[in-house]
Amino acid sequence: MPILNENYLNLKESYLFSEIAHRVNNYIVHNPDKKVIRLGIGDVTLPIGPTVIAKLHEGVEELGSADTFKGYGPEQGYEFLRSAIVDYYSQNKISIVSDEVFVSDGAKSDTGNITDLFDKDNVILIPDPVYPVYVDTNIMNGRKITYLDANETNQFLPMPDPKTHADIIYICSPNNPTGATYNKEQLKEWVDYALENDAIILFDAAYECFITDAALPRSIYAIEGARKCAIEFCSLSKTAGFTGTRCGYTIVPKDLKFTTSTGIEISLNAMWNRRQTTKFNGVSYIVQKGAAAVFSAEGMAQCRENIKYYQENARIIAAGLSQKGIRCFGGVNSPYIWFKCPNDMDSWDFFDELLTKAQVVGTPGAGFGKNGQKFFRLTSFGNRENTIEAMARIDKLL
Ligand code: MLT
Repeated sequence: MPILNENYLNLKESYLFSEIAHRVNNYIVHNPDKKVIRLGIGDVTLPIGPTVIAKLHEGVEELGSADTFKGYGPEQGYEFLRSAIVDYYSQNKISIVSDEVFVSDGAKSDTGNITDLFDKDNVILIPDPVYPVYVDTNIMNGRKITYLDANETNQFLPMPDPKTHADIIYICSPNNPTGATYNKEQLKEWVDYALENDAIILFDAAYECFITDAALPRSIYAIEGARKCAIEFCSLSKTAGFTGTRCGYTIVPKDLKFTTSTGIEISLNAMWNRRQTTKFNGVSYIVQKGAAAVFSAEGMAQCRENIKYYQENARIIAAGLSQKGIRCFGGVNSPYIWFKCPNDMDSWDFFDELLTKAQVVGTPGAGFGKNGQKFFRLTSFGNRENTIEAMARIDKLL
């Protein structure tokens, strides 16, 4: 009989967004005549821009001809995409090289898979509330987590405590779910803390394209010293509408080295390369071809148009809630609007009320951690008509 990974018993019964989908589907089955508006999971609704679509088609055509056919590609990603990503970083004056870039099927997979590189006995620091993947993947591996409170008092931006040691620190900025974004000085404190503690920062930059304030860092590598202590994850899901197409990337600098218990210095870039070449066969050529077009001037301009559309949705949502006297967080450098549930309600109760009385789906803050218990998240990724209608329904309900 196999000995099971019983750490799974320590997880909540289902993943947050699966639980929400289950509750919503159940409601729809019993109320087939109701029009449900989904502003829960951060799934995009606008189509992918024409420049990327043309390249996806081109990729398909190439596979149909013997002289351009591609079989297995490099596990780390095709050079044409890796160097397009390097150029993208250089536009923000950040210098990386292409073999520090690892193309993947998205930041969700990589933020989970990265745990392969670390022993069970690390002190893991995770802000609460947070994207549930960081917590769940560490629980699956039997790791103990120290939570860092993110709340109204610290503007949802917890800072390091020099008296507490950590080995692995998760940071998501702009943050999912709160939308709070660290400035350069704050991130510098984290980088200094990591360097002093010989720790690593796992930095999730999946929402960097929503930053409108030019003074805010879009990458941890905008901070001096970060190349020695941080891995960065990014995704084209929200930047380019790739939630279904699947493509992301992870930056593992060559300067990132740690020493084993026997005193051997190991490069994390080499370790991640070893992990990926063993367990991953790369993203499809077609998708990478389309992904590279995201970084062309034309492709990026089309992505920016879509992002602007979602930013206007965020403004509509925040304005509607503010009119009701509800204070909102996020929504400016982030696609998510985070707010306290009305009447001191518990977030799952508010979820049920919103679904059954207004047919609007949001995400209960409790799903992101204990500090989210009384909070709620709405996403700006819906279409305009639905966003306006959802806010009208919420206005009527509250
Ligand atoms: C979210 O709604 O938090 C995100 O869409 C989840 C994800 O990117 O996996």
